[in-house]
Amino acid sequence: MRKLLDVARLVPPEMKAFRQVFEYETEDERATVASALRELNARPRLLDIEGNEAAVISWECSCLQKKCGACAMIINGLPRLACDTRLAELAGERVTLDPLAKFPVVADLVVDRDAVFTKLRDMGVWHDNERSLLTQDKASDWAYEATRCLQCGCCLEVCPNYVPDAIFGGMAAMNPMARLLEETPKAERKRLARSYKESVFGGCAKALVCRNICPANIDIDRLLSRANARAVWGRH
Ligand code: SF4
Ligand code: SF4
Ligand code: FES
Repeated sequence: MRKLLDVARLVPPEMKAFRQVFEYETEDERATVASALRELNARPRLLDIEGNEAAVISWECSCLQKKCGACAMIINGLPRLACDTRLAELAGERVTLDPLAKFPVVADLVVDRDAVFTKLRDMGVWHDNERSLLTQDKASDWAYEATRCLQCGCCLEVCPNYVPDAIFGGMAAMNPMARLLEETPKAERKRLARSYKESVFGGCAKALVCRNICPANIDIDRLLSRANARAVWGRH
């Protein structure tokens, strides 16, 4: 299989935006965008398709197993995880790679997703998380489903209502809140419910554009309905 990786470049310290194409060949049908990037960067000299010497391609990864969300990027126009995107499933020879568009670009395909985690901190998720772990001895299946969120940002990329640093935190904020709402007794949910209404319910148009993009296949519809029922309508 031969692919041409067409990569958006922004190389420090110049930070001048341009595109660079790299040739990648493999016999491995299971090769992913992540394995291609690793192989390119491991070459003793990285040359682009025109034979020009190129700087190492900056991108983020940690687990390479669809567990950490770090490798989220725009692949052929859609937000996806590089380690979960097989080259063989991408039509055509050319594969375009761009950084997520909603966050500041640090270099090449690396973005600063600090806004996602700052939102969780401001919503008090870490504090309540600690309390929840101390008081609950058994998590429900729905709480478990919510923990599968990678905070990768793919859903935020397609959400028409999400803007970093605004009040609405999107589904990356809904999931941890949904888990806490599942685990917190009704009488103790007041602060959580207030925070949820402000940072999730109030900004979400519920058109669910985000639903089909989630690489973790989280059941966003039902988690959202359950969290709304608990936080907004006071049902259990
Ligand atoms: S809901 Fe899915 S797409 Fe959105 S941040 Fe979590 S794992 Fe990523
Ligand atoms: S349902 Fe619509 S507004 Fe709400 S998070 Fe998903 S894409 Fe955004
Ligand atoms: S490297 Fe962790 S999800 Fe891709």
